[in-house]
Amino acid sequence: MKRVDDFRLRFGKQELVPIVIGGMGVDISTVELALEVARLGGIGHISDAMVQTVSDRRFDTNFVSQKLKKYKANVASSDKSAVHFNLAELEEATRSHVLHAMDAKRGDGMIFINCMEKLTMNAPRETLRMRLSAALDAGIDGITLSAGLHLGSFALIEDHPRFRDAKLGIIVSSPRALAMFLRKNARLQRLPDYVVVEGPLAGGHLGFGMDWAQYDLRSIVAEVLAFLKAEHLDIPVIAAGGIFTGSDAAAFLEQGAAAVQVATRFTVTRECGLPDKVKQEYFRASEDDIEVNTISPTGYPMRMLKGSPGIGAGIRPNCEAYGYLLDAKGRCAYIDAYNSQVELHPGAKKVSVHDKTCLCTHMRNFDIWTCGQTTWRLKDTTRRAPDGSYQVLSAEQVFHDYQFSVDQKIALPP
Ligand SMILES: Cc1cc2nc3c(=O)[nH]c(=O)nc-3n(C[C@H](O)[C@H](O)[C@H](O)COP(=O)(O)O)c2cc1C
Repeated sequence: MKRVDDFRLRFGKQELVPIVIGGMGVDISTVELALEVARLGGIGHISDAMVQTVSDRRFDTNFVSQKLKKYKANVASSDKSAVHFNLAELEEATRSHVLHAMDAKRGDGMIFINCMEKLTMNAPRETLRMRLSAALDAGIDGITLSAGLHLGSFALIEDHPRFRDAKLGIIVSSPRALAMFLRKNARLQRLPDYVVVEGPLAGGHLGFGMDWAQYDLRSIVAEVLAFLKAEHLDIPVIAAGGIFTGSDAAAFLEQGAAAVQVATRFTVTRECGLPDKVKQEYFRASEDDIEVNTISPTGYPMRMLKGSPGIGAGIRPNCEAYGYLLDAKGRCAYIDAYNSQVELHPGAKKVSVHDKTCLCTHMRNFDIWTCGQTTWRLKDTTRRAPDGSYQVLSAEQVFHDYQFSVDQKIALPP
């Protein structure tokens, strides 16, 4: 039986260990994690989700407080259409985030950035164009387009000098979504450099409905491979979602995938941005503690731990400070859900909102614990201390376990 290290992901002349660590916003897949993966010869992702608040935390900037100050008068209003991002500030925050990673990069691997289309930021095209072009300006190796169909995203950067040299890829959950993307972009004569096929067991938002359990990654990968073959297209396919062991990964590579994208096993590494106490929640979780629900204002189902403190929390919408999910008209489904609870409970000091969650605030504060379906198995990947806590792992240990293990074995930390 083969192991992952028997395979390589090839981009032109460049050869990589075929392990990609998926983007995890907000700053869960940190620069430190991506750097470590690049050092080990794979591909690490950073994410540009809520990049201004990430910059404030990392570089002592004050983008969030400045934005809040500017729009303070609007805080009590449910009409958020006037709340806009300053594009120059967005550019600055994206640039410093990416430069921080690229300047420190060592080794033969690559660093990509995950860009979610659903972060519509009250001006979807303008803000996405700025995010993508600032990341390219700052020298990112590649961009993975996610959380959306991205039908117009390539066109936003077609005039960028790096449009044809940076690696550009897209995450899809069906051959249909891929076919649509290719059709819409045919005129640009620029194919994606890779396609991530993400199945229903992934963490974060899902590209499926609440019937996600009826789909399986192996079949979707086979369908996408067949589609590409029929179209005579040679685009590397990267399988993602629920790949827990090196043997799971090797099976996808034998099936014809060029690499695997994994994330959940890295949520309990030192380099991951989750607070230590949240890493322990991930370790402790049982299968029953994990759910897919519809509380994300994006409209996509999202997987998370049922014990996430952000579930049901009825906080006032924070769009003046954040506002990443405001659509082109300045609306967010959480604002409506919050307002209807306030109307139902006039005079109440606090309300609970269960339909939707204020995802910006809660992801920023690590209070929505999004996770992959295999999270309940994390406890089998480490040792437990006498006080009941689990040993946090190093990214290197998990990466090497994927790269070298066979027979469904998982190497425990020393
Ligand atoms: C904590 C967490 C956060 C995630 N956040 C994002 C995200 O912001 N954008 C995205 O495209 N995918 C996100 N994902 C999906 C991963 O990038 C990856 O494709 C998927 O989780 C791989 O499956 P696995 O977790 O079973 O290994 C997230 C996954 C996890 C576990």
